[in-house]
Amino acid sequence: KTQVELLKEKIRQDGKVLSEEVLKVDSFLNHQIDPVLMQEIGKEFVARFSDQNITKIVTIESSGIAPATMAGLILGVPVVFARKRKSLTLTDHLYSAKVHSFTKNESNDISVSKDFISNEDTVLLIDDFLANGQAALGLIDIAEQAGAKIAGVGIVIEKAFQPGGELIRKAGIRLESLAELQSLQDGKVQFVGEEAF
Ligand code: G4P
Ligand code: NA
Ligand code: NA
Repeated sequence: KTQVELLKEKIRQDGKVLSEEVLKVDSFLNHQIDPVLMQEIGKEFVARFSDQNITKIVTIESSGIAPATMAGLILGVPVVFARKRKSLTLTDHLYSAKVHSFTKNESNDISVSKDFISNEDTVLLIDDFLANGQAALGLIDIAEQAGAKIAGVGIVIEKAFQPGGELIRKAGIRLESLAELQSLQDGKVQFVGEEAF
């Protein structure tokens, strides 16, 4: 089986459709972690961006860290996770961006120390979910502040019925989503290009 097939199978088996907009995947991605599946996901990200000379993986705490770390392990490059805070006071030595979550109706500042991304880096940005795209745009903002080259964005599960994907592509950034959800209607997971399950 391909990496994408393994991921989709896991989503079908263990994912819980909470509403038309939210898929719960606490048993392998957001709470308990399936490291073997994460490793396969890491391999797939590395394969998709193999034409890029990636020097660092950048993600956001907490659920991006597992898949990002697997990609970093395979490439042998460091993994940096942006930290979230309600609001930042001392920002001198930080690259930071404001991220508004429509889902949670709250804003956080995300930040990365200036020690860990530079204009000599080519970064691959990885996250678990892509919904409205605000977290990914925040990571893009931080990478741009650092003057790093952005190889692209790698997402484990994209909710294609929400606007994040289009926003990232419109920003001229390459997006690779491993599983794309077409809809979660009627309590069913439907992947792009497939029948509802
Ligand atoms: P956005 O960044 O794409 O705009 O997403 P949004 O603000 O809507 O998402 C807020 C949080 O909810 C993020 O996690 C995101 O990963 C998560 N999320 C969004 N849609 C879903 C979904 O359908 N299922 C699940 N399981 N999560 C979803 P976070 O608050 O950053 O938390 P974490 O990284 O600590 O897990
Ligand atoms: Na996340
Ligand atoms: Na999350």
